[in-house]
Amino acid sequence: MRTRKGTQMLRTILARRTHYAFRDTPVPESALNHILTAGMLAPTRFHQRPWHFIILRDEGAKREIAEALRLKPSLAGAPVWIAVVAEEEGPASWDLDVAAAAQSMLIAATALGLGSAWLMPWLGNPDALEMVERLLGLPAGVHLAVILAVGFPAEEMPAHRAEEVYEPSRVHLEQVRHASSKAPAC
Ligand SMILES: Cc1cc2nc3c(=O)[nH]c(=O)nc-3n(C[C@H](O)[C@H](O)[C@H](O)COP(=O)(O)O)c2cc1C
Repeated sequence: MRTRKGTQMLRTILARRTHYAFRDTPVPESALNHILTAGMLAPTRFHQRPWHFIILRDEGAKREIAEALRLKPSLAGAPVWIAVVAEEEGPASWDLDVAAAAQSMLIAATALGLGSAWLMPWLGNPDALEMVERLLGLPAGVHLAVILAVGFPAEEMPAHRAEEVYEPSRVHLEQVRHASSKAPAC
């Protein structure tokens, strides 16, 4: 049964878009706290919470990293970047735990009227990753997992439309083949 809150939540999920240009209006501290809380509320394997969150506001630092990563320069104009990091020796699921936190933070940002972008252009390029980790001053053994750019969008992006994103061909029903006819012991 769909409730009013549920409908609003689904609308927020549809409204989340990647933004590349931001106004220079600061992100209120309370909004940032809500976003970080949403990240820390995301599920983690065995509740191990392997992540840490580095808040970058310094224009020069963001610009330097954006240039090193060849990001669109406008992304450095997002008032806040949240770099999510995790310890190398952490749980095997650290990257999944980080992804869950990142998605929750993006949804929270959208709910607060903020735009955001999920950035990890260093994928497949360990040298680029190492360079950014150095620029961020991460201690040895701490990995950069994802950077989220957050701010008030310079222009509105249209919300996704459920009927456009839903692809029935990606949904597979009744495909499970049982090795035996016996029901598994629970
Ligand atoms: C794992 C992951 C990595 C991503 N890396 C980047 C990136 O490096 N640069 C970028 O502009 N967008 C990146 N994105 C955002 C996607 O490009 C974006 O979500 C996708 O194009 C769909 O657009 P939407 O977010 O507006 O729905 C990434 C998203 C994910 C989930």
